Amino acid sequence: MAFEMVGVVGLGTMGAGIAEVFARAGLRVIGVEADAEALARGRAHVERSTGRAVDKGKLTPAEQAEILGRITLTTSRDDLRAADLVVEAIPEIMDYKISLFQDLDRICGPETVLATNTSSLSVTAIAAATGRPGRVIGMHFFNPAPVMKLVEVVGTVVTEPGVLSGVAELAERLGKTVVAVGDRAGFVVNRLLLPYLNHAAVLLEQGVAARDDVDAAMKLGVGLPMGPFALLDLIGLDTAYEVMGVLYDETRDRRHAPAPLLRELVTAGLLGRKSGRGFYGEDGQRPAPVDSAAVSFGVVGDELAGRLRAAGLEPSGDPDVLLHEAERPVIEYAAGLKDPAKLVGVHLVGDRVAELAATVLTAERAATGAAGLMRAAGLTPVPCKDRAGFVVDALLYPYLNDAVRMHDAGYASIADIDAAMRLGCGYPAGPFEMLETLGLARVRDGLRALYAEYREPAFAPAPLLDQLVTAGLGAFPRP
Ligand code: CAA
Repeated sequence: MAFEMVGVVGLGTMGAGIAEVFARAGLRVIGVEADAEALARGRAHVERSTGRAVDKGKLTPAEQAEILGRITLTTSRDDLRAADLVVEAIPEIMDYKISLFQDLDRICGPETVLATNTSSLSVTAIAAATGRPGRVIGMHFFNPAPVMKLVEVVGTVVTEPGVLSGVAELAERLGKTVVAVGDRAGFVVNRLLLPYLNHAAVLLEQGVAARDDVDAAMKLGVGLPMGPFALLDLIGLDTAYEVMGVLYDETRDRRHAPAPLLRELVTAGLLGRKSGRGFYGEDGQRPAPVDSAAVSFGVVGDELAGRLRAAGLEPSGDPDVLLHEAERPVIEYAAGLKDPAKLVGVHLVGDRVAELAATVLTAERAATGAAGLMRAAGLTPVPCKDRAGFVVDALLYPYLNDAVRMHDAGYASIADIDAAMRLGCGYPAGPFEMLETLGLARVRDGLRALYAEYREPAFAPAPLLDQLVTAGLGAFPRP
Protein backbone atom coordinates (compact mmCIF):
# COMPACT_ATOMS: atom_id res chain seq x y z
CA MET A 1 0.00 0.00 0.00
CA ALA A 2 1.64 3.26 -1.11
CA PHE A 3 0.66 6.39 0.75
CA GLU A 4 2.11 9.57 -0.74
CA MET A 5 -0.77 12.01 -0.70
CA VAL A 6 -2.69 12.30 2.55
CA GLY A 7 -5.73 14.38 3.39
CA VAL A 8 -6.41 15.72 6.87
CA VAL A 9 -9.90 17.04 7.56
CA GLY A 10 -10.18 19.36 10.55
CA LEU A 11 -7.15 21.44 11.47
CA GLY A 12 -7.78 22.01 15.16
CA THR A 13 -5.14 21.05 17.74
CA MET A 14 -5.03 17.41 16.65
CA GLY A 15 -5.55 17.83 12.91
CA ALA A 16 -2.87 20.51 12.56
CA GLY A 17 -0.46 18.34 14.53
CA ILE A 18 -1.26 15.31 12.38
CA ALA A 19 -0.76 17.32 9.17
CA GLU A 20 2.64 18.41 10.50
CA VAL A 21 3.62 14.82 11.29
CA PHE A 22 2.81 13.66 7.73
CA ALA A 23 4.57 16.63 6.13
CA ARG A 24 7.66 16.11 8.28
CA ALA A 25 7.83 12.52 7.03
CA GLY A 26 7.90 13.76 3.41
CA LEU A 27 4.28 13.10 2.44
CA ARG A 28 2.18 15.62 0.60
CA VAL A 29 -0.74 16.81 2.71
CA ILE A 30 -4.07 18.38 1.80
CA GLY A 31 -5.51 20.09 4.85
CA VAL A 32 -9.24 20.80 4.79
CA GLU A 33 -11.17 23.17 7.02
CA ALA A 34 -14.67 24.58 6.95
CA ASP A 35 -13.75 28.21 6.24
CA ALA A 36 -10.84 30.56 5.62
CA GLU A 37 -10.59 31.62 9.24
CA ALA A 38 -10.25 28.03 10.48
CA LEU A 39 -7.70 27.34 7.74
CA ALA A 40 -5.63 30.34 8.88
CA ARG A 41 -5.72 29.02 12.46
CA GLY A 42 -4.56 25.60 11.27
CA ARG A 43 -1.71 27.11 9.26
CA ALA A 44 -0.66 29.29 12.22
CA HIS A 45 -0.62 26.19 14.41
CA VAL A 46 1.80 24.34 12.09
CA GLU A 47 3.93 27.46 11.62
CA ARG A 48 4.19 27.95 15.37
CA SER A 49 5.00 24.34 16.06
CA THR A 50 7.69 24.05 13.37
CA GLY A 51 8.91 27.57 14.25
CA ARG A 52 9.61 26.37 17.78
CA ALA A 53 11.72 23.56 16.32
CA VAL A 54 13.65 26.14 14.26
CA ASP A 55 14.23 28.29 17.36
CA LYS A 56 15.63 25.25 19.13
CA GLY A 57 17.91 24.46 16.19
CA LYS A 58 16.09 21.17 15.48
CA LEU A 59 14.99 22.30 12.00
CA THR A 60 16.63 24.75 9.60
CA PRO A 61 14.44 27.54 8.19
CA ALA A 62 14.78 25.83 4.79
CA GLU A 63 13.49 22.53 6.21
CA GLN A 64 10.61 24.34 7.84
CA ALA A 65 9.75 25.96 4.49
CA GLU A 66 9.83 22.52 2.81
CA ILE A 67 7.48 21.07 5.43
CA LEU A 68 5.05 23.96 5.08
CA GLY A 69 5.38 23.73 1.29
CA ARG A 70 4.16 20.13 1.38
CA ILE A 71 0.87 21.20 3.01
CA THR A 72 -1.84 22.53 0.71
CA LEU A 73 -4.78 24.13 2.48
CA THR A 74 -8.30 24.22 1.10
CA THR A 75 -11.91 24.63 2.14
CA SER A 76 -13.11 22.20 -0.55
CA ARG A 77 -13.46 18.53 0.35
CA ASP A 78 -13.46 17.78 -3.38
CA ASP A 79 -9.71 18.52 -3.37
CA LEU A 80 -9.24 15.21 -1.54
CA ARG A 81 -10.00 13.31 -4.73
CA ALA A 82 -6.38 12.26 -5.26
CA ALA A 83 -5.59 11.32 -1.65
CA ASP A 84 -4.38 7.79 -0.84
CA LEU A 85 -5.47 8.21 2.78
CA VAL A 86 -7.71 10.73 4.50
CA VAL A 87 -7.52 11.22 8.27
CA GLU A 88 -10.48 12.88 9.92
CA ALA A 89 -9.92 15.04 13.02
CA ILE A 90 -13.17 16.96 13.44
CA PRO A 91 -15.15 17.30 16.73
CA GLU A 92 -16.30 14.12 18.48
CA ILE A 93 -19.89 14.27 17.27
CA MET A 94 -21.10 11.15 15.48
CA ASP A 95 -23.50 12.92 13.11
CA TYR A 96 -20.71 15.19 11.83
CA LYS A 97 -18.40 12.23 11.35
CA ILE A 98 -20.93 10.13 9.48
CA SER A 99 -21.83 12.97 7.15
CA LEU A 100 -18.13 13.67 6.47
CA PHE A 101 -17.31 10.00 5.79
CA GLN A 102 -20.25 9.72 3.41
CA ASP A 103 -18.89 12.75 1.54
CA LEU A 104 -15.37 11.29 1.48
CA ASP A 105 -16.74 7.97 0.26
CA ARG A 106 -18.31 9.77 -2.69
CA ILE A 107 -15.31 12.01 -3.43
CA CYS A 108 -12.33 9.66 -3.04
CA GLY A 109 -11.29 6.76 -5.29
CA PRO A 110 -12.33 3.25 -4.20
CA GLU A 111 -8.80 2.40 -3.02
CA THR A 112 -8.48 5.37 -0.67
CA VAL A 113 -8.32 4.41 2.99
CA LEU A 114 -10.45 6.59 5.26
CA ALA A 115 -9.27 6.93 8.84
CA THR A 116 -10.84 8.54 11.86
CA ASN A 117 -8.81 10.04 14.67
CA THR A 118 -11.76 9.60 17.01
CA SER A 119 -10.81 9.09 20.64
CA SER A 120 -13.80 7.03 21.54
CA LEU A 121 -16.60 6.83 18.99
CA SER A 122 -17.37 3.56 17.25
CA VAL A 123 -15.14 3.10 14.20
CA THR A 124 -17.45 0.27 13.12
CA ALA A 125 -20.45 2.61 13.07
CA ILE A 126 -18.53 5.15 10.97
CA ALA A 127 -17.30 2.42 8.60
CA ALA A 128 -20.77 0.93 8.23
CA ALA A 129 -22.14 4.30 7.12
CA THR A 130 -19.92 4.20 4.01
CA GLY A 131 -19.84 2.02 0.92
CA ARG A 132 -16.30 0.86 1.79
CA PRO A 133 -16.49 -0.38 5.38
CA GLY A 134 -13.45 -2.60 4.81
CA ARG A 135 -11.27 0.44 4.13
CA VAL A 136 -12.36 2.58 7.09
CA ILE A 137 -10.22 2.31 10.19
CA GLY A 138 -9.17 4.26 13.28
CA MET A 139 -5.82 6.03 13.37
CA HIS A 140 -5.60 7.60 16.78
CA PHE A 141 -2.82 10.09 17.50
CA PHE A 142 -2.02 11.73 20.83
CA ASN A 143 -1.71 15.37 21.73
CA PRO A 144 0.72 16.96 20.89
CA ALA A 145 0.81 14.76 17.78
CA PRO A 146 4.33 15.76 16.70
CA VAL A 147 5.69 14.75 20.12
CA MET A 148 3.78 11.70 21.34
CA LYS A 149 5.16 8.51 19.82
CA LEU A 150 2.05 6.32 19.85
CA VAL A 151 -0.58 5.66 17.23
CA GLU A 152 -3.46 3.33 18.05
CA VAL A 153 -4.55 1.66 14.83
CA VAL A 154 -8.12 0.47 15.21
CA GLY A 155 -9.51 -2.33 13.09
CA THR A 156 -13.11 -3.50 12.96
CA VAL A 157 -14.65 -6.88 12.24
CA VAL A 158 -15.01 -5.87 8.57
CA THR A 159 -11.58 -4.34 7.95
CA GLU A 160 -10.07 -5.75 4.74
CA PRO A 161 -6.87 -7.77 5.03
CA GLY A 162 -3.80 -5.63 4.46
CA VAL A 163 -5.40 -2.30 5.39
CA LEU A 164 -4.33 -2.43 9.02
CA SER A 165 -0.79 -3.53 8.26
CA GLY A 166 -0.51 -0.90 5.50
CA VAL A 167 -1.57 1.88 7.85
CA ALA A 168 0.64 0.51 10.63
CA GLU A 169 3.64 0.61 8.25
CA LEU A 170 2.80 4.19 7.39
CA ALA A 171 2.61 5.13 11.08
CA GLU A 172 6.03 3.59 11.57
CA ARG A 173 7.34 5.64 8.66
CA LEU A 174 6.13 8.67 10.64
CA GLY A 175 8.37 7.59 13.51
CA LYS A 176 5.50 6.30 15.62
CA THR A 177 5.02 3.04 17.49
CA VAL A 178 1.78 1.26 16.66
CA VAL A 179 -0.52 -0.56 19.01
CA ALA A 180 -3.20 -2.38 17.03
CA VAL A 181 -6.49 -2.62 18.90
CA GLY A 182 -10.10 -3.61 18.44
CA ASP A 183 -13.01 -1.19 18.30
CA ARG A 184 -13.92 -0.56 21.92
CA ALA A 185 -14.81 2.85 23.38
CA GLY A 186 -11.62 4.68 24.39
CA PHE A 187 -9.33 2.00 22.90
CA VAL A 188 -6.40 1.41 25.26
CA VAL A 189 -5.18 4.84 26.27
CA ASN A 190 -8.37 6.83 26.69
CA ARG A 191 -10.11 3.94 28.40
CA LEU A 192 -7.42 4.07 31.08
CA LEU A 193 -6.52 7.76 31.08
CA LEU A 194 -9.84 9.56 30.94
CA PRO A 195 -11.47 7.85 33.95
CA TYR A 196 -8.41 8.84 35.97
CA LEU A 197 -8.70 12.46 34.79
CA ASN A 198 -12.43 12.45 35.51
CA HIS A 199 -11.77 11.05 38.97
CA ALA A 200 -9.33 13.90 39.62
CA ALA A 201 -12.10 16.38 38.73
CA VAL A 202 -14.43 14.57 41.14
CA LEU A 203 -11.86 14.76 43.97
CA LEU A 204 -11.46 18.48 43.27
CA GLU A 205 -15.20 18.96 43.41
CA GLN A 206 -15.40 17.04 46.67
CA GLY A 207 -12.72 19.31 48.11
CA VAL A 208 -10.40 16.37 48.81
CA ALA A 209 -7.46 18.47 47.58
CA ALA A 210 -6.76 21.62 45.56
CA ARG A 211 -6.01 21.77 41.84
CA ASP A 212 -2.32 22.63 42.12
CA ASP A 213 -1.77 20.14 44.91
CA VAL A 214 -3.29 17.28 42.93
CA ASP A 215 -1.19 18.21 39.90
CA ALA A 216 1.97 18.47 42.01
CA ALA A 217 1.25 15.12 43.66
CA MET A 218 0.90 13.24 40.38
CA LYS A 219 3.80 14.99 38.69
CA LEU A 220 6.34 14.97 41.49
CA GLY A 221 5.07 11.95 43.39
CA VAL A 222 4.40 9.57 40.50
CA GLY A 223 6.66 11.13 37.85
CA LEU A 224 3.91 11.80 35.28
CA PRO A 225 4.79 14.53 32.77
CA MET A 226 1.75 16.59 33.76
CA GLY A 227 -0.80 16.60 36.52
CA PRO A 228 -4.40 15.70 35.62
CA PHE A 229 -5.72 19.28 35.45
CA ALA A 230 -2.85 20.54 33.29
CA LEU A 231 -3.44 17.54 31.02
CA LEU A 232 -7.20 18.12 30.85
CA ASP A 233 -6.46 21.68 29.75
CA LEU A 234 -4.11 20.33 27.06
CA ILE A 235 -6.59 17.74 25.76
CA GLY A 236 -9.48 20.21 25.86
CA LEU A 237 -12.26 19.93 28.41
CA ASP A 238 -14.88 19.62 25.66
CA THR A 239 -13.06 16.60 24.21
CA ALA A 240 -12.63 15.07 27.66
CA TYR A 241 -16.32 15.62 28.40
CA GLU A 242 -17.38 14.02 25.12
CA VAL A 243 -15.09 11.02 25.60
CA MET A 244 -16.38 10.46 29.13
CA GLY A 245 -19.95 10.58 27.83
CA VAL A 246 -19.18 7.91 25.23
CA LEU A 247 -17.40 5.73 27.79
CA TYR A 248 -20.32 6.05 30.16
CA ASP A 249 -22.83 5.16 27.45
CA GLU A 250 -20.86 2.00 26.71
CA THR A 251 -19.98 0.88 30.21
CA ARG A 252 -22.69 2.39 32.45
CA ASP A 253 -19.89 2.52 35.02
CA ARG A 254 -20.78 5.52 37.18
CA ARG A 255 -17.10 6.45 37.46
CA HIS A 256 -17.31 7.22 33.74
CA ALA A 257 -20.13 9.72 34.15
CA PRO A 258 -18.48 13.04 33.27
CA ALA A 259 -17.75 15.08 36.40
CA PRO A 260 -20.34 17.87 36.71
CA LEU A 261 -17.45 20.32 37.06
CA LEU A 262 -16.32 19.41 33.53
CA ARG A 263 -19.76 20.17 32.15
CA GLU A 264 -19.86 23.47 34.00
CA LEU A 265 -16.49 24.57 32.64
CA VAL A 266 -17.34 23.48 29.10
CA THR A 267 -20.71 25.25 29.21
CA ALA A 268 -18.93 28.40 30.36
CA GLY A 269 -16.62 28.14 27.34
CA LEU A 270 -13.58 27.37 29.50
CA LEU A 271 -12.16 24.60 27.32
CA GLY A 272 -8.51 24.66 28.37
CA ARG A 273 -5.54 25.80 26.31
CA LYS A 274 -7.49 26.14 23.09
CA SER A 275 -9.75 28.81 24.60
CA GLY A 276 -7.07 30.33 26.84
CA ARG A 277 -8.62 29.17 30.11
CA GLY A 278 -9.81 25.91 31.64
CA PHE A 279 -8.81 24.57 35.04
CA TYR A 280 -5.91 26.97 34.72
CA GLY A 281 -6.08 30.55 33.54
CA GLU A 282 -4.48 33.87 34.19
CA ASP A 283 -5.78 33.78 37.75
CA GLY A 284 -3.96 30.53 38.51
CA GLN A 285 -1.53 32.01 41.04
CA ARG A 286 -1.12 30.22 44.34
CA PRO A 287 -1.02 32.06 47.66
CA ALA A 288 2.46 32.35 49.11
CA PRO A 289 3.22 29.45 51.48
CA VAL A 290 2.89 30.24 55.18
CA ASP A 291 6.24 30.43 56.93
CA SER A 292 6.12 28.07 59.85
CA ALA A 293 9.74 27.80 60.88
CA ALA A 294 8.68 28.21 64.50
CA VAL A 295 6.41 25.17 64.63
CA SER A 296 7.42 22.44 67.05
CA PHE A 297 6.45 18.89 66.22
CA GLY A 298 6.21 15.33 67.36
CA VAL A 299 6.45 12.45 64.93
CA VAL A 300 5.20 8.88 64.70
CA GLY A 301 6.87 6.90 61.94
CA ASP A 302 10.49 5.99 61.30
CA GLU A 303 10.87 7.03 57.69
CA LEU A 304 9.29 10.43 58.26
CA ALA A 305 11.34 11.00 61.42
CA GLY A 306 14.48 10.11 59.46
CA ARG A 307 13.65 12.52 56.62
CA LEU A 308 12.98 15.36 59.06
CA ARG A 309 16.14 14.63 61.00
CA ALA A 310 18.18 14.58 57.80
CA ALA A 311 16.93 18.12 57.18
CA GLY A 312 18.02 19.17 60.66
CA LEU A 313 14.48 19.14 62.10
CA GLU A 314 14.22 17.54 65.55
CA PRO A 315 10.98 16.68 67.37
CA SER A 316 10.19 18.28 70.73
CA GLY A 317 8.37 17.24 73.91
CA ASP A 318 5.29 19.48 73.82
CA PRO A 319 4.65 19.91 70.10
CA ASP A 320 2.33 22.23 68.15
CA VAL A 321 1.86 19.56 65.50
CA LEU A 322 1.82 15.80 65.73
CA LEU A 323 2.83 14.16 62.46
CA HIS A 324 1.69 10.60 61.99
CA GLU A 325 3.13 8.69 59.07
CA ALA A 326 0.31 6.68 57.52
CA GLU A 327 -0.85 4.76 54.47
CA ARG A 328 -4.47 4.94 55.55
CA PRO A 329 -6.76 7.55 57.15
CA VAL A 330 -5.69 8.63 60.65
CA ILE A 331 -9.04 9.62 62.15
CA GLU A 332 -9.21 6.56 64.38
CA TYR A 333 -5.82 7.32 65.83
CA ALA A 334 -6.72 11.02 66.19
CA ALA A 335 -9.95 10.22 68.02
CA GLY A 336 -7.96 8.41 70.71
CA LEU A 337 -5.63 11.36 71.40
CA LYS A 338 -5.93 13.91 74.19
CA ASP A 339 -5.43 16.74 71.67
CA PRO A 340 -6.55 15.48 68.23
CA ALA A 341 -6.50 19.04 66.80
CA LYS A 342 -2.71 18.74 66.51
CA LEU A 343 -2.70 15.57 64.45
CA VAL A 344 -1.87 15.51 60.75
CA GLY A 345 -1.48 12.27 58.77
CA VAL A 346 1.58 12.16 56.52
CA HIS A 347 1.80 9.87 53.52
CA LEU A 348 5.17 9.98 51.80
CA VAL A 349 4.96 9.49 48.03
CA GLY A 350 8.33 8.87 46.44
CA ASP A 351 11.19 11.16 47.46
CA ARG A 352 9.53 14.48 46.83
CA VAL A 353 5.92 14.52 47.98
CA ALA A 354 4.20 14.35 51.36
CA GLU A 355 0.42 14.10 51.38
CA LEU A 356 -0.90 15.78 54.51
CA ALA A 357 -4.20 14.42 55.69
CA ALA A 358 -6.22 16.77 57.87
CA THR A 359 -9.03 15.06 59.78
CA VAL A 360 -12.30 16.72 60.77
CA LEU A 361 -10.60 17.45 64.10
CA THR A 362 -7.33 18.91 62.78
CA ALA A 363 -6.81 22.61 63.56
CA GLU A 364 -5.89 24.95 60.69
CA ARG A 365 -2.71 25.94 62.56
CA ALA A 366 -1.55 22.33 62.71
CA ALA A 367 -2.27 21.81 59.01
CA THR A 368 -0.32 24.89 57.88
CA GLY A 369 2.43 24.10 60.35
CA ALA A 370 2.77 20.59 58.92
CA ALA A 371 2.99 22.02 55.39
CA GLY A 372 5.77 24.37 56.44
CA LEU A 373 7.67 21.52 58.08
CA MET A 374 7.46 19.45 54.91
CA ARG A 375 8.78 22.33 52.83
CA ALA A 376 11.62 22.77 55.31
CA ALA A 377 12.40 19.06 54.80
CA GLY A 378 12.55 19.56 51.02
CA LEU A 379 9.20 17.87 50.36
CA THR A 380 6.24 19.25 48.42
CA PRO A 381 3.24 19.23 50.78
CA VAL A 382 -0.07 18.06 49.32
CA PRO A 383 -2.80 18.96 51.80
CA CYS A 384 -5.82 16.68 51.47
CA LYS A 385 -8.76 15.26 53.33
CA ASP A 386 -8.29 12.18 55.51
CA ARG A 387 -9.79 9.74 52.97
CA ALA A 388 -8.76 6.27 51.83
CA GLY A 389 -6.04 6.59 49.20
CA PHE A 390 -5.57 10.28 49.98
CA VAL A 391 -4.84 11.77 46.52
CA VAL A 392 -2.20 9.71 44.76
CA ASP A 393 -3.33 6.19 45.61
CA ALA A 394 -6.99 7.14 45.07
CA LEU A 395 -6.12 8.25 41.54
CA LEU A 396 -3.42 5.74 40.70
CA TYR A 397 -4.71 2.43 42.03
CA PRO A 398 -8.06 2.37 40.19
CA TYR A 399 -6.16 3.19 36.99
CA LEU A 400 -3.81 0.25 37.60
CA ASN A 401 -6.80 -1.95 38.41
CA ASP A 402 -8.51 -0.91 35.16
CA ALA A 403 -5.39 -1.93 33.23
CA VAL A 404 -5.44 -5.38 34.83
CA ARG A 405 -9.12 -5.79 33.98
CA MET A 406 -8.50 -4.64 30.40
CA HIS A 407 -5.78 -7.23 29.95
CA ASP A 408 -7.77 -9.94 31.69
CA ALA A 409 -10.71 -9.25 29.37
CA GLY A 410 -8.42 -10.14 26.46
CA TYR A 411 -8.54 -6.67 24.90
CA ALA A 412 -4.80 -5.95 24.85
CA SER A 413 -1.55 -7.56 25.95
CA ILE A 414 0.49 -6.41 28.93
CA ALA A 415 3.28 -5.26 26.59
CA ASP A 416 0.86 -3.25 24.42
CA ILE A 417 -0.87 -1.61 27.38
CA ASP A 418 2.46 -0.66 28.96
CA ALA A 419 3.82 0.69 25.66
CA ALA A 420 0.61 2.60 24.95
CA MET A 421 0.68 4.47 28.27
CA ARG A 422 4.40 5.19 28.07
CA LEU A 423 4.30 6.45 24.49
CA GLY A 424 0.80 7.92 24.35
CA CYS A 425 0.97 9.84 27.62
CA GLY A 426 4.69 10.08 28.34
CA TYR A 427 4.31 8.06 31.54
CA PRO A 428 7.62 6.93 33.03
CA ALA A 429 6.33 3.35 33.15
CA GLY A 430 3.30 1.41 31.97
CA PRO A 431 0.66 0.29 34.49
CA PHE A 432 1.99 -3.27 34.79
CA GLU A 433 5.51 -1.99 35.30
CA MET A 434 4.17 0.40 37.95
CA LEU A 435 2.22 -2.39 39.65
CA GLU A 436 5.32 -4.55 39.87
CA THR A 437 7.45 -1.70 41.20
CA LEU A 438 4.91 -0.71 43.83
CA GLY A 439 4.25 -4.32 44.79
CA LEU A 440 1.12 -6.23 43.78
CA ALA A 441 0.07 -6.86 47.37
CA ARG A 442 0.36 -3.20 48.30
CA VAL A 443 -1.84 -2.12 45.41
CA ARG A 444 -4.33 -4.92 46.06
CA ASP A 445 -4.58 -3.89 49.73
CA GLY A 446 -4.89 -0.22 48.79
CA LEU A 447 -7.74 -1.08 46.43
CA ARG A 448 -9.47 -3.05 49.16
CA ALA A 449 -9.24 0.00 51.44
CA LEU A 450 -10.64 2.25 48.70
CA TYR A 451 -13.45 -0.20 48.05
CA ALA A 452 -14.26 -0.46 51.76
CA GLU A 453 -14.54 3.31 52.06
CA TYR A 454 -16.23 4.33 48.82
CA ARG A 455 -18.14 1.06 48.10
CA GLU A 456 -17.34 1.66 44.46
CA PRO A 457 -17.56 -1.70 42.65
CA ALA A 458 -14.77 -0.82 40.22
CA PHE A 459 -12.36 -0.23 43.13
CA ALA A 460 -12.57 -3.88 44.15
CA PRO A 461 -9.27 -5.51 43.18
CA ALA A 462 -9.37 -7.18 39.77
CA PRO A 463 -9.62 -10.97 40.24
CA LEU A 464 -6.33 -11.51 38.38
CA LEU A 465 -4.50 -9.13 40.70
CA ASP A 466 -6.02 -10.74 43.75
CA GLN A 467 -5.11 -14.21 42.53
CA LEU A 468 -1.50 -13.30 41.80
CA VAL A 469 -1.12 -11.89 45.29
CA THR A 470 -2.78 -14.95 46.83
CA ALA A 471 -0.43 -17.16 44.84
CA GLY A 472 2.51 -15.20 46.23
CA LEU A 473 3.59 -13.88 42.82
CA GLY A 474 5.17 -10.46 42.44
CA ALA A 475 4.90 -10.15 38.66
CA PHE A 476 2.39 -10.71 35.88
CA PRO A 477 2.93 -13.78 33.73
CA ARG A 478 4.10 -12.71 30.28
CA PRO A 479 4.35 -14.94 27.22
N1 CAA B 1 3.55 20.87 19.32
C1 CAA B 1 4.77 20.48 18.88
N2 CAA B 1 5.80 20.22 19.70
C2 CAA B 1 5.61 20.40 21.02
C3 CAA B 1 4.37 20.82 21.55
C4 CAA B 1 3.32 21.06 20.64
N3 CAA B 1 2.11 21.44 21.06
N4 CAA B 1 4.47 20.90 22.90
C5 CAA B 1 5.73 20.53 23.20
N5 CAA B 1 6.40 20.23 22.08
C6 CAA B 1 7.77 19.75 21.97
C7 CAA B 1 8.77 20.78 22.35
O1 CAA B 1 9.14 21.60 21.26
C8 CAA B 1 9.92 19.92 22.83
O2 CAA B 1 10.61 19.41 21.71
P1 CAA B 1 12.18 19.05 21.77
O3 CAA B 1 12.35 18.01 22.84
O4 CAA B 1 12.46 18.53 20.39
O5 CAA B 1 12.87 20.31 22.08
C9 CAA B 1 9.22 18.74 23.50
O6 CAA B 1 7.94 18.69 22.92
C10 CAA B 1 9.12 18.90 24.99
O7 CAA B 1 8.43 20.11 25.24
P2 CAA B 1 8.74 21.13 26.42
O8 CAA B 1 10.17 21.00 26.86
O9 CAA B 1 8.22 22.46 26.05
O10 CAA B 1 7.75 20.69 27.55
P3 CAA B 1 7.70 19.36 28.37
O11 CAA B 1 9.00 18.68 28.50
O12 CAA B 1 6.97 19.79 29.58
O13 CAA B 1 6.77 18.40 27.50
C11 CAA B 1 4.71 17.54 26.79
C12 CAA B 1 5.51 18.80 27.07
C13 CAA B 1 5.34 16.79 25.64
C14 CAA B 1 3.30 17.99 26.43
C15 CAA B 1 4.73 16.64 28.08
O14 CAA B 1 4.30 17.39 29.17
C16 CAA B 1 3.86 15.42 27.96
O15 CAA B 1 4.27 14.40 27.43
N6 CAA B 1 2.63 15.51 28.51
C17 CAA B 1 1.66 14.42 28.44
C18 CAA B 1 0.82 14.59 27.21
C19 CAA B 1 -0.22 13.51 27.08
O16 CAA B 1 -0.54 12.77 27.98
N7 CAA B 1 -0.79 13.44 25.89
C20 CAA B 1 -1.86 12.49 25.60
C21 CAA B 1 -3.17 13.10 25.91
S1 CAA B 1 -4.50 12.02 25.53
C22 CAA B 1 -4.82 12.29 23.92
O17 CAA B 1 -4.26 13.09 23.26
C23 CAA B 1 -5.84 11.39 23.34
C24 CAA B 1 -7.16 11.86 23.27
O18 CAA B 1 -7.82 11.42 22.36
C25 CAA B 1 -7.83 12.72 24.25
